[in-house]
Amino acid sequence: MAIHFNERNKTFYIGGKDFSYIFRIKDGRLQHLFFGKRIKEQDVSYIADGRKTEFAPTVSDGAESSDVLTQEYPVYGRGDYREPAVLITAADGGRTTDFIYRSHSILKNKSKISGMPTLRGGETLVIELQDELYGLILSLYYTVYEDCGAVVRRVVLKNGGKSDVIINKINSFSVDIPRCDLDKICLQGGWAKERGVERSALTHGIFEVSSTRGSSSHHLNPFIALCDKNADENVGEAYGFNLVYSGSFSVKAQVDQLGITRVGGGINEKDFRWALKVGESFETPEAVLVYSAEGLGKMSRNFHDLYREYLINPAYAYKKRPVVLNCWESFYFDFNDKSLSELIAKAKGTGIDTFVLDDGWFVGRNSDKAGLGDWHVDYDKLSGGLKAVADDCRAAGMKFGIWIEPEMVSEDSELYRAHPDWVVRHPDLTPCKGRHQLVLDFANPDTVDYVKGVISDLLKENDVSYVKWDMNRNITEFYSVYLKERSQEFAHRYILGVYALAEHLTASFPDVFFEGCSGGGGRFDAAMLYYFPQIWTSDNTDALSRAFIQYGTSFCYPLSAMSGHVSACPNHQTARITPFSSRTAIASFCSTGFELNLNALTEEETKGIKKHVEFYDGISDLILKGDLYRLLSPFDGNYFSQMVVSKDKKKALFILMKKLARCNDVYPVVKLKGLNENFTYETGGRLYGGDALMNVGLKFPNDLKDFETVLMVFTVRGAEK
Ligand code: GLA
Repeated sequence: MAIHFNERNKTFYIGGKDFSYIFRIKDGRLQHLFFGKRIKEQDVSYIADGRKTEFAPTVSDGAESSDVLTQEYPVYGRGDYREPAVLITAADGGRTTDFIYRSHSILKNKSKISGMPTLRGGETLVIELQDELYGLILSLYYTVYEDCGAVVRRVVLKNGGKSDVIINKINSFSVDIPRCDLDKICLQGGWAKERGVERSALTHGIFEVSSTRGSSSHHLNPFIALCDKNADENVGEAYGFNLVYSGSFSVKAQVDQLGITRVGGGINEKDFRWALKVGESFETPEAVLVYSAEGLGKMSRNFHDLYREYLINPAYAYKKRPVVLNCWESFYFDFNDKSLSELIAKAKGTGIDTFVLDDGWFVGRNSDKAGLGDWHVDYDKLSGGLKAVADDCRAAGMKFGIWIEPEMVSEDSELYRAHPDWVVRHPDLTPCKGRHQLVLDFANPDTVDYVKGVISDLLKENDVSYVKWDMNRNITEFYSVYLKERSQEFAHRYILGVYALAEHLTASFPDVFFEGCSGGGGRFDAAMLYYFPQIWTSDNTDALSRAFIQYGTSFCYPLSAMSGHVSACPNHQTARITPFSSRTAIASFCSTGFELNLNALTEEETKGIKKHVEFYDGISDLILKGDLYRLLSPFDGNYFSQMVVSKDKKKALFILMKKLARCNDVYPVVKLKGLNENFTYETGGRLYGGDALMNVGLKFPNDLKDFETVLMVFTVRGAEK
């Protein structure tokens, strides 16, 4: 049993294969005791006892102050001056809550959160607490994932009182780790430079990763890791925290006066204020807490296993992904029947199995200034309609996919003219524009229903097998004409609207493969992964930039979740010239595809396309199911290296990329990881012992050129030694 309550010492033990999560009921309140490496069930309350300080109020004389305790879900107003997990305003103006334990149950099966992504899972602990003053009932949920080092948490707040209350803040989780000698790692960036790894010491005060953009953002991912100062990829303790949420979020790490680190997060309270009427409940999104005693590498592998096994649609999680030819960087808006037909015909016989018609196929869409919202084909460009394009694809042995941006509308569109009240705006303000477009008010169910209908018809009528769902601006004004004075609920309700549409479309079209996108990786989060098995990782398709972006993204998300395409040279975003082989090598460590005009390629490159598809076919199982080992960080030195190893350790894919050539350089030696030391592996016609590969390592030439890569496949030969 993974969850156990010890009646004697009133302690909850949540146990995974490699970790323990322990807390107890003390004086009616929940006190956190331990989250770390697996230990036997025993009393560890000594770690929390006896903390004292001055200027720390207590609920009664002689009691411990909540300001020094390690809390499981801290409240506001009862002496704990650190970040509360929940904050309300009651009808009488009061804000203080004090949740006291009432009961708990251990469920065999986990229930789904209504209208929000939920990890599938089993054993779940539910603890019910009550605030006497306002009659609020708080339920804390913990689902344990024994093999993945993970606990998934969420919270439900019910108004069981006599008056309505306002929720000002409600975290999905909070945990107090009784140490402060930790480093923090976040994934920061911006458009075309998403998820750069940034590590520094955690210090007193509050460190926050957050977004107020209405989406999880290019800028800071809803992820934070805390780790030992000496932790690296292979050793040391590491904690990873990730929200299963796509909207404005906040995750904070706070170090207090007595050296406790509090980590908590959820919906960003800056744009949140929820009216909870008597009898109503509010459910938070889920938060994933991962522990690793074997460094950051194992932390990431835990996330990858968890998301592949329990989050991503099981119909697709381990299924070979479509190898896509996307036409965006071939033509941008400038295409017609002829150019599309030629491109599609050229793909015949390459092994590419899906053609995706990107932006620009619908009425009025000759630039990004118009057309969004009117999802009808532009017959001036495509005289045979989408059907003719789909027919061309079939003739070339490919499936047909299409780009949409369902949450947006252009001012110059039929939809906007018919429903100006369906956009996000304040009635007395001219709304800000982003990429010339406005955002549809997805907090309004009528808007969502309309979009459901239009997109469903589009998919039904056009034999579409693949959808790229884009979202190309951030939200402003945060006002809904529909919600009016309840507009501070807008940010969260908008995302619930997005989920409702995604739920409807993915359930109605189970055979259609959905790819997420937001100007590249602007909404690359676990909640989107629940609906979309892969996400366009970045608009930056340059091989070197992608080495950084995909490396950072892998801290939390599996390789198969990242779409990565081989694109033209010089690269359209960076103008960098990289070898074709480097572009295919980098695009092998993700869900691969192409984003270039096949008609503009040299004969050698055209052959290279086919070769890449064949090569990828042979290793796609590793990308879908394997264990990732990061070997050299592009953020730290002149090389990037990583490998992915099959679970049975019989096969592995390895890459080394040199950033810049140097004269008379040192010979790089890379020690491989994750292999079986007793196996013999073959690569390039030579045999190596697994023990040699991991301890002696491999030596590479010192004259690799700028951006040159070495890609190697290792397969086991013969029996164990
Ligand atoms: C976004 C996407 C691109 C492309 C364009 C089309 O920027 O990230 O891949 O689809 O929109 O407008």
